[in-house]
Amino acid sequence: MALPFVFVVTNVATAPHAKSEVLRAHPEARFAFSRPGLLTFKHPAASPTFGDDLVLTRVAGQSLGQASDVDSLLALVPEPHAQVAWHVFPRDPEHAGSIVHATTLRESLASRGLEKTAPAIGETVIDVAVAEGEPSFVGHHVHGPGRWSVAGGLPGVVVPELSPSRAFAKLEEALLWSGLSPRPGSVVVELGAAPGGATLACLLRGLPVVAFDPGALDPRVRDFVGPNGARVIFHERPAGTAKKDELPADARFLVSDMNLAPPVALRYVARVRAMLPKLEAAILTIKLNDEKMIEPLSRWIELVRAMRFSDVRATQLPSHRQEMVIVARV
Ligand SMILES: C[S@@+](CC[C@H](N)C(=O)[O-])C[C@H]1O[C@@H](n2cnc3c(N)ncnc32)[C@H](O)[C@@H]1O
Repeated sequence: MALPFVFVVTNVATAPHAKSEVLRAHPEARFAFSRPGLLTFKHPAASPTFGDDLVLTRVAGQSLGQASDVDSLLALVPEPHAQVAWHVFPRDPEHAGSIVHATTLRESLASRGLEKTAPAIGETVIDVAVAEGEPSFVGHHVHGPGRWSVAGGLPGVVVPELSPSRAFAKLEEALLWSGLSPRPGSVVVELGAAPGGATLACLLRGLPVVAFDPGALDPRVRDFVGPNGARVIFHERPAGTAKKDELPADARFLVSDMNLAPPVALRYVARVRAMLPKLEAAILTIKLNDEKMIEPLSRWIELVRAMRFSDVRATQLPSHRQEMVIVARV
């Protein structure tokens, strides 16, 4: 039986901000309980589409209850078991015991023929957030644009040893979440590239990069040659100094990750975007270090929309700390 409760799954460190976002966007919701990485709320209009509007959550939907074994889990699910997608994930993705517990539960479901994990748009997903030594939390949501198709919004990106920063994961996760799949050879302009994790991710995908940063690029990335000879041309200067003749006229993607306040970073992004006539999409990391930058999240999204993008979505990725990503398509 569906309950008048909704849930959100968040990065553990950002849970307080996710809670504020829910209460701001849904004043009718009342906080119910929290565990690391999970928050629930009483909501008079709880439904499995809850959370389509939220940014600081990886998964959201309607609560179904708690289950301590597979039979009690299956008893909570109202939809035909063979038709839904099963997303079993550790509530805290850093907790080794919970990761093992999630794997065991996934295997138990598979042994009963419940192996579907990839939802189509409009299909129901059963979310099972597990934590070692506790009953599993169970909810459901409807898959749609802007929702992760992998369990818990945890795509399991592995940062290669060669990468000088975790920003490798930020870029890869943004591509997986958004479904953007740049054709090899597509040129990327990158603002805030040092030390070069995201640049490396692009080069490994065969995407040549033109990058700006006043800090130094790691020499291993600076000299790296990816598939199809993809290399980086690096300008060791602030993004604000980028000149039109330094920006490739055929650039298809704009990537930005500058540790600047959002209005400042977005001003530089807007200036460069205006010089890229062939752009297909932008992947913009927005720093939320300053509390004052969190409440007006929608303002940063609107600023990006005003840069002549038609489809603009934002989320917090699993590798993010105090930040979010805006993915904008022309
Ligand atoms: C989080 S780091 C970027 C990580 C990088 N994308 C990677 O993949 O390793 C933020 C970067 O923003 C850069 N930055 C700060 N102000 C900038 C500006 N005005 N123009 C370009 N980059 C800037 C910093 O030098 C720093 O390297």
